[in-house]
Amino acid sequence: MRKNIVAGNWKMHKTNSETVALLQEIITKNGTPNCEVIVAPTFINLKTAVDTVVGKNITVAAQNMHQAEGGAFTGEIAANMLTDIGVNTIILGHSERRAYFHETDALLASKVDTAMKHEMRVIFCFGEELKDRQIDNHFNIVEYQLRDGLFHLEKKDWKNIVLAYEPVWAIGTGETASPEQAQEMHKFIRDLIAKVYGHDVADEVTILYGGSVKPDNAKEIFSKPDVDGGLIGGASLKADDFLAIVNAF
Ligand code: G3P
Repeated sequence: MRKNIVAGNWKMHKTNSETVALLQEIITKNGTPNCEVIVAPTFINLKTAVDTVVGKNITVAAQNMHQAEGGAFTGEIAANMLTDIGVNTIILGHSERRAYFHETDALLASKVDTAMKHEMRVIFCFGEELKDRQIDNHFNIVEYQLRDGLFHLEKKDWKNIVLAYEPVWAIGTGETASPEQAQEMHKFIRDLIAKVYGHDVADEVTILYGGSVKPDNAKEIFSKPDVDGGLIGGASLKADDFLAIVNAF
């Protein structure tokens, strides 16, 4: 179901005590936002986060998981280990996983299938690199990533899919896509989904923008008709900055 969402991807930041401190500050200052608020700490802090936000209308998400149901995969986490502690939302396909850990669209498609099997909600990340945009190939790249990662799904699965368009050249760089660039790509994505699955799916899918969203640009980006919120990195690590973005709706 389409909704406004602001999700904080904490990446590899915050110890256990820092996780509690940040969440308690967010809870204290949260107010009544006009969007769903999601936080995604590291694996080791997920249970602490779930226990800290209980009853506080904040969703805890994981940043990754393995596609297998368990087994000899040293260092990995299986879906049921996440759902067992109350984590039912998962970020998959982040550009850092694709770049540093060589996660291919095919591997991501199998991770998505495992998440669907466990009735998890997937925040599926994708986006072009600067070299693609410079040669006007960014729409093709995004289409390939969506087709190879998600378009094997059935219509019924899309109720558990949230999309996060994150142009790689905007992540962590301070180089935010303009609101017009974000809207152009989000409309392209929604039109593509309508072509493949129909408007009943396309009009209901939440599409987030990620890439240097900050308190001073969030309102304009979120005001665009096909932008339903943001996936926030650096600005999610400080309560005041994160909540300023949450309150941009
Ligand atoms: O997943 C969100 C992240 O990639 C965006 O990072 O620091 O540009 O907000 P940042």
